[in-house]
Amino acid sequence: MSSFFRGRRIRQTPQMRDFFRETPPLLKEDLIMPYFVVNSGDASLEQEIATMPGQYQLSLAKLEEHVAKAVDMGLKNVILFGVPAKKDEQATGAWKEDGIIQRATRLLKKRFPSLFVITDVCLCEYMSHGHCGILAKNGQVLNDPTLELLAKTAVSQAKAGSDMVAPSDMMDGRVAAIREALDGAGLANTPIMSYAAKFASAYYGPFRDAAQSAPACGDRKSYQMDPGNGREAMREVFADLEEGADAIIVKPAGPYGDILRQVRDAVDVHVCAYQVSGEYALIRAAGLNGWVDEERVMMESLQGLKRGGADSIITYFAETILAKGLAR
Ligand code: PBG
Ligand code: ZN
Repeated sequence: MSSFFRGRRIRQTPQMRDFFRETPPLLKEDLIMPYFVVNSGDASLEQEIATMPGQYQLSLAKLEEHVAKAVDMGLKNVILFGVPAKKDEQATGAWKEDGIIQRATRLLKKRFPSLFVITDVCLCEYMSHGHCGILAKNGQVLNDPTLELLAKTAVSQAKAGSDMVAPSDMMDGRVAAIREALDGAGLANTPIMSYAAKFASAYYGPFRDAAQSAPACGDRKSYQMDPGNGREAMREVFADLEEGADAIIVKPAGPYGDILRQVRDAVDVHVCAYQVSGEYALIRAAGLNGWVDEERVMMESLQGLKRGGADSIITYFAETILAKGLAR
């Protein structure tokens, strides 16, 4: 056999493979660890989430413990989700000054001043009906009236010390509304990372157990994107950038690798991939069953996202990766 191209020439030794690898290794600063913090009377609450083994609902005190351990291992970025004590139809818990996220943010920023604290901006966890916006009597989720509550939520989080707000509601015009409200409150320096390409996905199931945020009626298909639409994802991204988004999230990540690549090639802002709860649950479940080599599948799934163009990754594996020394 004579051939000019011999692909195997550069695969012969570990040193060669390291040398020729196109995708850089995972860095600690690439990783964003999600935490679920619960406003609970029980200060020792540390409830494992049944559908996400290894992930917990935490009280403020337990959150502080978990984050302290993770920071020791090199964790640099977190994103916070809240479970309030009470839900209502105005999502009061999302925007009040002593809401659970506001308290958690103050606590973490005080104890770990250099930790980059990102806060998720949405209403579903705080609404009695579990939708991401205000629900009309006819079952419709109202867009424009919701913007005011989202803006209030973002401002109260930023006032509590959030380093970056991340709206995940998918209402039209929310980035502009939040930007305007932040600027008006003297918070022009707080960046917005918008979940611009967020699909109506079955992969969010375990998250809704963790955040107790499943919609009581209907679904999210009238605001989150149809999984079949790639061109529309680009329109969402450009709309959010025009409204002032500083960074963009693609979510879910793995099954939407094509979107990630398209967004990366089309824009010059930071692109974050969100490996969501269902992606985590699938890998963990197969790993716990001994059906796959969990550590290798975990690393390969994240390498795929970096190869696909992600600048950062929100992943429930972040703590595990740091604990195992798998990020530089
Ligand atoms: C809130 C929100 C959701 C997720 C992030 N923010 C749930 C949803 O839209 O139903 C999902 C994250 C995950 O599955 O890990 N809007
Ligand atoms: Zn929501």
